[in-house]
Amino acid sequence: MAGTNPYVNIETPPLPGQAYQITIISEGEPHVLTVDPRHLPYDRSGQVGSILDICEGNDIPLEHTCGGVVACSTCHVIVREGLESCNEPTEDELDQLEEAPGLTIKSRLGCQCVPNGSVPVVIEIPGWNRNAVKETPHD
Ligand code: FES
Repeated sequence: MAGTNPYVNIETPPLPGQAYQITIISEGEPHVLTVDPRHLPYDRSGQVGSILDICEGNDIPLEHTCGGVVACSTCHVIVREGLESCNEPTEDELDQLEEAPGLTIKSRLGCQCVPNGSVPVVIEIPGWNRNAVKETPHD
């Protein structure tokens, strides 16, 4: 699902300047990928070149309930390495992140976090986040 959030002004971060390596740890399993900016976007969810975009394009599950428009926190990821190469979070992203379980100082919304390719990046998808979404009981 993709779309726009009419209540949030989302700026488009610059694409990576060159190909770079990203490791995405999902359910304890590392997926080592090369992101080539010439092949972006991989999908239509979140910012072009975002962690969500990369996950979607490589069949790595990452929850994104709102479709990547900064209206949830289900795409919460932890940038273990390479945070300095990522765009700055907006106030709207920081507001949504406050709702994420297991928040850390290296937390970002996967749909808004776009590395610039200057260094390798290591991303962890927190298992508790995905499980919390899937185990929420319905009324
Ligand atoms: S998918 Fe909802 S904020 Fe990222």
